[in-house]
Amino acid sequence: MRRRLVAGNWKMNKNYREAMDLFEKLNEASAAMPAEVDVMIAPPALYLTGFAKTSTRKIEVGAQDVSHREEEEGAFTGEVSAAILKSAGVRYAIVGHSERRQYHGENDELIGKKIQACVKAELTPVYCCGESLEERESDRHFEVVRKQVSTALSGFSAEELSALIIAYEPVWAIGTGKTASAEQAQEMHADIRANVKELFGAEFAEKVRILYGGSCKPGNAAEIFGKPDVDGGLIGGAALKAEDFTAIIGAGF
Ligand code: PGA
Repeated sequence: MRRRLVAGNWKMNKNYREAMDLFEKLNEASAAMPAEVDVMIAPPALYLTGFAKTSTRKIEVGAQDVSHREEEEGAFTGEVSAAILKSAGVRYAIVGHSERRQYHGENDELIGKKIQACVKAELTPVYCCGESLEERESDRHFEVVRKQVSTALSGFSAEELSALIIAYEPVWAIGTGKTASAEQAQEMHADIRANVKELFGAEFAEKVRILYGGSCKPGNAAEIFGKPDVDGGLIGGAALKAEDFTAIIGAGF
């Protein structure tokens, strides 16, 4: 049985006071969160150390991005290495989010290096993939996502990727209020699982957690999470309100 994971991606939101306030509310709510669900929050990088030090055991902390450099340290201005994140108590790093692809020109070769940096530092990578609206409308969504996944994960062994988490986030559903239907999510998740089965074997495919992301809300989370190949969610907008994020964590329980 795969454990459900609900992760909150705060993106570039919340000034210091607001961030502390939201974090405190989540910490307070964490005692009532279902034991069966893993919870992660990915705040702006500046807050990671403080959150990692003071979060309750229920809430784990993740970075929204990580350097693709394999060096633990060095003259790479502006970069934060996987090893530095790990040393500060950070457990996860989101890699390849569609906003990184769109605004920072990241591609799956570079994202593969970020995954490699995470593997080396024993940081859990949350690898994001997903098609654009145009790709879906031209019926290329399965092909596009298969290519993303196989490129980013090429050259790794199943063992190296044993901690990997995949997040399927159709670009047309991110921050748009348009959610993929539970059926659309399920068919893509099943295809991703079939793809990683071909790449890494049945045992790996059975174990790997695949999250859905894109306008996930308290009102639709239970239905989406109820699908057999959906193992939780990567939540953007709705993670910025303690009540909504808490409701998504408890969806279906
Ligand atoms: P959203 O973002 O929930 O605001 O659509 C999801 C994401 O980008 O991870």
